[in-house]
Amino acid sequence: MSEVRLTIDYEEFSSVDQMEPRDRELVAAAIDAQKGSYSPYSDFQVGAALLLDNGIVVKGANQENAAYPSGLCAERTAMFWAGANYPDVPLDTLVVAGSDHGVLCESPASPCGACRQVMAEYQKKHKKPLKIILVGSKRIRKFKCVDDLLPFIFDSLTLA
Ligand code: THU
Repeated sequence: MSEVRLTIDYEEFSSVDQMEPRDRELVAAAIDAQKGSYSPYSDFQVGAALLLDNGIVVKGANQENAAYPSGLCAERTAMFWAGANYPDVPLDTLVVAGSDHGVLCESPASPCGACRQVMAEYQKKHKKPLKIILVGSKRIRKFKCVDDLLPFIFDSLTLA
């Protein structure tokens, strides 16, 4: 037996002004995307901005339903739309911003496990690290790839 320690390196910014211009634009796009949130049950508005390798920015927002499990997170609405419309274009950066009752959370909302699994699938499909930025009003976190949010990723190779 040996004990193993897993560490995650990520960047943390206390203000969007500290970020590079492209990332700043994406943060603004994710916050803007919250306008598309349909969240009458949780009153938690999540916006996502997904930069594709062709320069297009796809926006997503959480969509809720009276039958709760039928709803979908902001991240997956963006990724599935990109997957359906630009199946061959790799994903570069996914930015997520969550607001509680219309107020941007101080600490960034963190993607659920199902969204992380979907991120992992597209990262593997396109053989390119998908960067992730999680936006809060007091801090913003940037991760280099999905593995840093979902270590020991399950992928179909495990089934082979
Ligand atoms: N939600 C997202 O859209 N993304 C996340 O990363 C976390 C949660 C949504 C799902 C639901 O509509 C609401 O936030 C409350 O859970």
